[in-house]
Amino acid sequence: MIQEVKETCFLNFLLERRMIMDMTIRPRRLRGSEVLRKMVRETRMDKSSLIYPLFVREGENIREEIPSMPGQYRYTLDQLPYCLEELTEAGVGSVLLFGIPDVKDEVGSGAYAQDGIIQKALRLAKKEFPDLYYITDVCMCEYTSHGHCGVLCGHEVENDATLELLAKTALSHAQAGADMVAPSDMMDGHTRAIRSLLDANGYKGTPIMSYAVKYASSFYGPFRDAAGSAPSFGDRKSYQMDFHNKREGVKEALLDVEEGADLLIVKPSLAYQDMITRVAECTNIPVAAYSVSGEYSMVKAAAAKGWIDEEKIMCEMAVGAYRAGAQLYITYFAKELAACMDRGIIG
Ligand code: PBG
Repeated sequence: MIQEVKETCFLNFLLERRMIMDMTIRPRRLRGSEVLRKMVRETRMDKSSLIYPLFVREGENIREEIPSMPGQYRYTLDQLPYCLEELTEAGVGSVLLFGIPDVKDEVGSGAYAQDGIIQKALRLAKKEFPDLYYITDVCMCEYTSHGHCGVLCGHEVENDATLELLAKTALSHAQAGADMVAPSDMMDGHTRAIRSLLDANGYKGTPIMSYAVKYASSFYGPFRDAAGSAPSFGDRKSYQMDFHNKREGVKEALLDVEEGADLLIVKPSLAYQDMITRVAECTNIPVAAYSVSGEYSMVKAAAAKGWIDEEKIMCEMAVGAYRAGAQLYITYFAKELAACMDRGIIG
C-alpha cells in the first residue's frame, strides 16, 4: 500500500515537471524487434574476415587434442586435409599455420629448412586445397631449443642476427606456397628485413601481416603448451611489449607501416581492445585482432563448469573486437563463429 502511494507520487512528480511528456528521444524505440535491431546494427562482419590458427606437427597418423585447449588439435600432415575440409565446409577461408618440429636447436634451423614442417604442410595443403588462403606464423620460438623468439648471445636475444633468420624463414614459406607471412617475433626491423628479402627473390606480391603490437602476455600460456615453445629461462619481456603501454603500441604500429607492413596484428584481443581502436585510427591499413589461446581456454573452462554460455560469450568477444576497430579476427573459434554468422546470431 505504502509502496503504491509512493509510486503514484513519483509518477505525478514526473508528469508535473513534464519530464515524461518531453521525452522525445527514446533510444529503446530502435530495440523493439529483432528485425529492427539487426537493421540498425553498427558493427557488421562476415566469415571472410575470420582466420583460423592451426598447429601442424611431424609424425604420422596423429590428431592429438591439446590438453589446455579443448577442441584444438595438433595434426600430422596426413591428418591435415580433414581439418582443411572442415574449415572449407564451415566457410572459413584462411588459416594461420604454426609448426611443431621434431627437433629443435640453438638457431631454430627447422624454421627455415626446405623440408621443415611448415614448408611441407604448405606444399601439401596448397595442392589439395588450393582455394584456401595460407598465412604462416614467422618466428623462431617453436624451433629453438631455448624457446626464445630469436638467436641468443649469452642470455640475450640478439636482434640483428635474428633478422636474417626470420627473413630466411619467410622466404622459405613463400617458396613453399605461403600466400602471406606473419612475423610474430617482435624483433626491431623485422618487417623491413623480410620485405627486402622477399622482394629480392621475386615475391614482391606476398603481403606481410606484422604482429606489430604484441604484448608480453600470460594469455599465451596454453599456446606455449600446444607448441612446446615456452622459454627455458627468463621471459619475453625484452622483446614483447609491456602491457602498461599504449603510446608505445602506436610507435610500433607506425614503424611497421613505414617498413612495409600490409596488415597489422594487435595481440591479445580481449584485454587490449583500446589498442585495436588506437591502431585502427592511427594507420590506414587493415588491423587484425588475435584472440589468443588463453582467451579461448578461459571460455572453454568456464563453459565446461556450466558457469557461462560458451556460444554467447564467444560471440560477444568477437563482436567486441570488431566494434573496437578490427577488420580481421584471428580466432580458435573461427568455425563456430562462422556457424553463428550463418544462423544470423551475429554478423
Ligand atoms: C610465437 C607466437 C606465440 C603466439 C603466436 N605466435 C607465442 C608467444 O609469443 O609466446 C601466441 C598465440 C596464442 O596464444 O594463441 N611467437
